[in-house]
Amino acid sequence: MTDAVQIVLAKRPAGDVTADCFREEKVSLPALADGELLIRTRYLSLDPYMRPRMTELRSYVPPFELDKPLTGGAVGEVVESRNPRYAKGDVVTGLLNWASHTRHDGKGLRKLDPAAAPLSAHLGVLGMPSFTAWYGMTKICQPKAGETVFVSAATGAVGQVAGQLARLAGARVVGCAGGEDKCAWAVREAGYDACFNHKTETDVGAVLDKLCPQGIDADFENVGGKIFHAVFERLNNFGRVAFCGAISEYQDQVPMAGPPKMFTIVQRRLNLQGFIISDHVGLMGDFVREVGGYLKDGKLKTRETVVDGLSKAPEAFMGLLRGDNFGKLVVKVG
Ligand SMILES: NC(=O)c1ccc[n+]([C@@H]2O[C@H](COP(=O)([O-])OP(=O)(O)OC[C@H]3O[C@@H](n4cnc5c(N)ncnc54)[C@H](OP(=O)(O)O)[C@@H]3O)[C@@H](O)[C@H]2O)c1
Repeated sequence: MTDAVQIVLAKRPAGDVTADCFREEKVSLPALADGELLIRTRYLSLDPYMRPRMTELRSYVPPFELDKPLTGGAVGEVVESRNPRYAKGDVVTGLLNWASHTRHDGKGLRKLDPAAAPLSAHLGVLGMPSFTAWYGMTKICQPKAGETVFVSAATGAVGQVAGQLARLAGARVVGCAGGEDKCAWAVREAGYDACFNHKTETDVGAVLDKLCPQGIDADFENVGGKIFHAVFERLNNFGRVAFCGAISEYQDQVPMAGPPKMFTIVQRRLNLQGFIISDHVGLMGDFVREVGGYLKDGKLKTRETVVDGLSKAPEAFMGLLRGDNFGKLVVKVG
């Protein structure tokens, strides 16, 4: 038996996520069966897709179950193994419980070299969010020198990499973020040509007209809602939209309507493509080669927010939905 601490889904949110949606519990994990391993969580990734999973809506991933631990991308250390593929001391990444320890069947885990990079980087710039940015930007947005690319949530885990990849391709890059400090970092460190604060700019259309006088050739869409509507109206002929997420809509109880004048898609020969990064795992090697190379050459800047302690995960997650995090949000566990 191993004593563990875990956070379970106590109730499904109606509107904004509240603290009583979570419950922290102490549990005793039973002894391992053949093929299982016990993993101690080191870092837990908090991601926007977890919000839709808290509801009962069927999606590309099943909903979290009530009274069961939430799960998420994580890095952990094997503390006991009855699985021949893993030994005590191995550092692995994969889906783990929001818990100090997870009993795991070993499926979907990947061993990491703990000396290769800081462990939390495997959840950010070397992990799923950065892979998402790379796929959406290089395969869908396909920026060209001189084009204008827009990135919403420009300093988030995905957006910060997406914007820099567009800049490295020679495009003019404009973003939006929720604060003056974030916008300043986007321009000064990440090399955006401009970034506006969506929390203070009330007329998104007017600010886009000012910052994107030649229109928008490609949009990396993280936010949806009124920001996307304004971007959509300003897409140029043959514009591309990598529809990555719509975080501004995740807590809406009444679904928001799409942009008016959908015939624009035909008139301007637009390509709007949604994607889910887990469909593209076969390209992970290409991503690691390209983005790993940029990192090694000092061409990519990254930010992360590290929250200390599993008990802080619920509050940190609610903060992510308000924009409190700056860059990739991870929880350091134990
Ligand atoms: N398709 C896929 O496979 C895939 C994979 C990963 C992520 N995603 C999506 O990509 C998007 C970004 O994810 P991430 O991991 O990079 O998250 P993140 O940027 O680290 O965190 C979310 C950010 O969204 C912004 N935000 C929150 N509410 C907002 C609102 N109402 N209006 C405008 N901005 C708001 C906040 O930044 P500000 O301070 O700038 O407002 C917040 O920090 C999300 O939509 C996510 O669901 C999709």
